[in-house]
Amino acid sequence: MLKSDLGARLRTAFDDDRDAETFLLRLERYGADLQGSLRAVYGEQADALQERLLEVLLHAYHARPADLRRLDEARLLRPDWLQTPDMIGYVAYADRFAGTLKGVGEHLDYLQGLGVKYLHLMPLLRPRPGENDGGYAVADYRAVREDLGTLDDLSALARGLRGRGVSLVLDLVLNHVAREHEWAQKARAGDPKYRAYFHIFPDRIQPDAFERTLPEVFPDFAPGNFTWDDQTQGWVWTTFNTYQWDLNWANPDVFLEFADLILYLANRGVEVFRLDAIAFIWKRLGGASQNEPEVHHLTRALRAAARIVAPAVAFKAEAIVAPGDLIHYLGTRAHHGKVSDMAYHNSLMVQIWSTLASRNTRLFEEALRAFPPKPTNTTWGMYVRCHDDIGWAISDEDAARAGLNGPGHRHFLSDFYSGEFPGSFARGLVFQYNPATGDRRISGSGASLAGLEAALEVGGDAGRVDDAVRRLLLAHAVVLGFGGVPLLYMGDELALLNDYAFTDTPEHAPDNRWVHRPRMDWELAGRVETAPDLPAARVNAGLRHLIHTRRDTPHLHASIESHVVPSPDGRVLLLRRDHPLGVMVQAYNFSEEEVLLPSHVLRDHLGDHATDRLGGSAFTFGPYPVRLDSYRALWLVQLEIE
Ligand code: GLC
Repeated sequence: MLKSDLGARLRTAFDDDRDAETFLLRLERYGADLQGSLRAVYGEQADALQERLLEVLLHAYHARPADLRRLDEARLLRPDWLQTPDMIGYVAYADRFAGTLKGVGEHLDYLQGLGVKYLHLMPLLRPRPGENDGGYAVADYRAVREDLGTLDDLSALARGLRGRGVSLVLDLVLNHVAREHEWAQKARAGDPKYRAYFHIFPDRIQPDAFERTLPEVFPDFAPGNFTWDDQTQGWVWTTFNTYQWDLNWANPDVFLEFADLILYLANRGVEVFRLDAIAFIWKRLGGASQNEPEVHHLTRALRAAARIVAPAVAFKAEAIVAPGDLIHYLGTRAHHGKVSDMAYHNSLMVQIWSTLASRNTRLFEEALRAFPPKPTNTTWGMYVRCHDDIGWAISDEDAARAGLNGPGHRHFLSDFYSGEFPGSFARGLVFQYNPATGDRRISGSGASLAGLEAALEVGGDAGRVDDAVRRLLLAHAVVLGFGGVPLLYMGDELALLNDYAFTDTPEHAPDNRWVHRPRMDWELAGRVETAPDLPAARVNAGLRHLIHTRRDTPHLHASIESHVVPSPDGRVLLLRRDHPLGVMVQAYNFSEEEVLLPSHVLRDHLGDHATDRLGGSAFTFGPYPVRLDSYRALWLVQLEIE
């Protein structure tokens, strides 16, 4: 992009020399990535696209407000801002949390009190009316859902958050738009420019050819990947629901639209974009049409564009895919560290639940061992629960290495978490049973899956309540100790149970993921301090303690990897982190039993003495074993040598 005359030409677009200099330096820094990726995807069309993109970049750069430019500079000085141990994320539906965007603004003390520095507000751009997949069917990316407020409210909220050091995170749904989106409307009206924004086929020949190898995302309520549309007289690609039309990213116009949208929203104060369903954006006959190399080129190009105009902005990939595919979203080889800044660690979440059910950490160890290391400038998004169901993403290979049968174990987990398995503590619902594969995904809140709901059903049996509280805190300890951004899902700080009233709302009733998308219980939030024995209060206090401890534990910086240490006890997971300040070993007892761990196991890594950051106690690894009581977590660090 930086041809020799370009600099001179561009300078004329600026009144201010320093502004011009900044833009040109960034273009010089990211131009090659941009150009390389656009050429890889668009071939000969790339040059024309770049010319148009340059206009978009210049426009957005000029429009960038002063306070956000300041943030850009601050971020450039702190490129690891998403990796530091004080980063705590919170994920909430604005309406379920606080009614409106203004309402959210009234609860900033609450969020700050929890230590939140990253707030992901679930889809809030204007969706289609009626069913809209929890807002993931967007009808207008430049408007806010009417009942939540306006774009100006969003900017004001972003400003308020920024003033407290909290980053606003929004979803960017880029695989599809609502059938009611203007582009789809124009396509339906026959406008050829907009028909080319989608994948529309006149007959079943191509759809059938694709279907031979495509999986189904919602086999239950949206089987198949194509939907007949009368108005367009064609089969439209709809990976998700029939009303979510997949976009054709092979069309450079689509790229340009999204580059413009990202910068528009970034200038409104959005700091992190969650790239929704990013794995699906490139289609290729003969495969699953997921994780194609073009996806990573497109992300690299979008990121380069964002870095030029708004370097404060980061990308988080929502790719719920196998580890070998996932690592490409953070970048490998030529893309190393140049794609998304962050990606969900779905496997960690799956393994936590799998191990809580089996009380055996072998599979967890194998799954983590199979994970390739991530680029050191990237981070994981880690979570105990999120707004989606849990799919048992456990590979047959990992299972075999752990001495398990993959399908058998997945079957067990579905039985266990739907409460069918004898002795199960969980209360979950089966989501999207797929008779073809036997898959049964699971919906349910963290607390209900961890046993709190069942324990309270039997009259609050103290032992069972205690187990549930400890399970939840163990799960949070693993997430907070792993290195990355822990994403607390709204209500989990209060151990909120399943909300079965979702069936009363007609557009939610068919989708039982709403069982774990409750409304915030502010009354309970207010009681946790005065009633410390409530299960909610115990979880809340435990979680706050974990957050505080994490903040003061530099070993948890996300540039450092957590490695599995062979554990002599199948109930205990041992992880090691090698930080310049010293070694950290974490021990997690995934059972309700007391475990005696031979102390040489810890001495081999830590030396004779260590401190448990969580319990605050000192350990000497002498002849006696280390006692780990039920669901206990230890964060052991070497004593600092003065
Ligand atoms: C993502 C969202 C999920 C949604 C899907 C389609 O996976 O997390 O809730 O259904 O994308 O947009």
